Amino acid sequence: MIQWTGIVVVGVGIGLALIVGTLYSTGSADLAVHDQQPITFSHQRHAGQLGVACQFCHRFASVSPIAGVPPVSICMTCHQSMPTQQPDLKRLTLYWNEQRPIPWIRLQRLPDHVYFTHEMHLFAGVTCQDCHGIVEKMMGTPRASTFEMGWCLTCHQQQHASTDCWTCHK
Ligand code: HEC
Ligand code: HEC
Ligand code: HEC
Ligand code: HEC
Ligand code: HEC
Repeated sequence: MIQWTGIVVVGVGIGLALIVGTLYSTGSADLAVHDQQPITFSHQRHAGQLGVACQFCHRFASVSPIAGVPPVSICMTCHQSMPTQQPDLKRLTLYWNEQRPIPWIRLQRLPDHVYFTHEMHLFAGVTCQDCHGIVEKMMGTPRASTFEMGWCLTCHQQQHASTDCWTCHK
């Protein structure tokens, strides 16, 4: 009796580990996890409190497949004439003075066999928040809830966009 319980408990443990493992590998796990970036950049501060438009920094979103992450020069349009005592701002100034790009860590990425483009979605009126969540309230790097096929298909069905396989698999 006791032995059986042990086996069941171990089994459940492995099952959970597998589920969590799969979620992590697709980048969809745990929105609360704090992702470590070279500089702690707050979307809440910049996009929320200060009201800077998403596309002021992510400049390519409406004209190309990728949204793009801003170069240091965009940060410096404001920070050049601001105090730099705060440790993260010290680091920012150092990158700028040494003319080095900030090695931001990319958190979410679709597999190579999937074709995705920002441009078409924005043109069709889909918003950043529809896919990435309420980024202007997030402290760390935003993570979409999921980039799984079912998520793409559900919205494509609702909005009468194409669900042909080769729309997304070229
Ligand atoms: C002042 C510049 C700035 C503004 C404004 C800004 N971002 Fe960002 N964004 C960044 C930087 C820098 C990064 C990379 C660091 C990070 O991930 O926190 C980033 C990362 C991201 C990522 C994560 C990409 C990934 O998977 O690693 C998403 C999604 C994103 N931003 C969406 C938005 C949205 C939506 C808005 C508007 C609500 C917005 N951003 C406004 C600078 C900005
Ligand atoms: C539109 C102007 C503007 C731009 C562009 C901008 N910032 Fe800021 N940033 C601010 C202001 C204003 C503060 C708040 C300063 C304060 O409260 O003392 C701030 C604060 C910060 C802080 C201190 C921590 C915090 O959240 O208060 C860091 C770090 C930072 N910014 C990094 C960046 C980086 C990295 C970029 C480029 C990706 C960037 N900023 C682009 C205006 C800007
Ligand atoms: C239809 C859903 C959708 C919309 C709308 C959308 N995104 Fe994305 N975004 C994605 C997906 C999916 C990825 C991952 C793409 C990949 O890995 O090839 C991504 C990746 C990103 C990245 C990181 C890689 C890159 O392209 O630079 C940033 C930054 C980003 N999005 C910002 C934005 C901003 C800002 C907006 C609004 C102007 C926006 N996104 C609108 C789904 C969306
Ligand atoms: C929130 C809704 C939404 C989500 C989520 C979404 N899409 Fe879309 N998608 C659309 C709309 C709307 C269009 C534009 C349809 C049109 O104008 O014909 C579109 C168009 C596209 C196109 C261009 C089709 C063409 O005719 O060239 C591709 C490719 C695409 N989506 C891939 C994806 C992928 C891959 C994902 C998931 C990672 C995704 N989409 C998630 C709403 C969405
Ligand atoms: C709107 C975009 C979209 C359409 C349409 C679409 N897919 Fe996908 N597909 C994805 C995305 C995103 C992924 C990667 C994420 C995942 O595996 O769920 C994917 C992954 C896959 C995979 C790999 C799964 C794996 O485990 O690696 C297969 C196989 C696949 N799709 C087949 C199809 C077939 C067959 C169709 C047509 C009936 C189709 N897809 C239509 C977006 C799409």
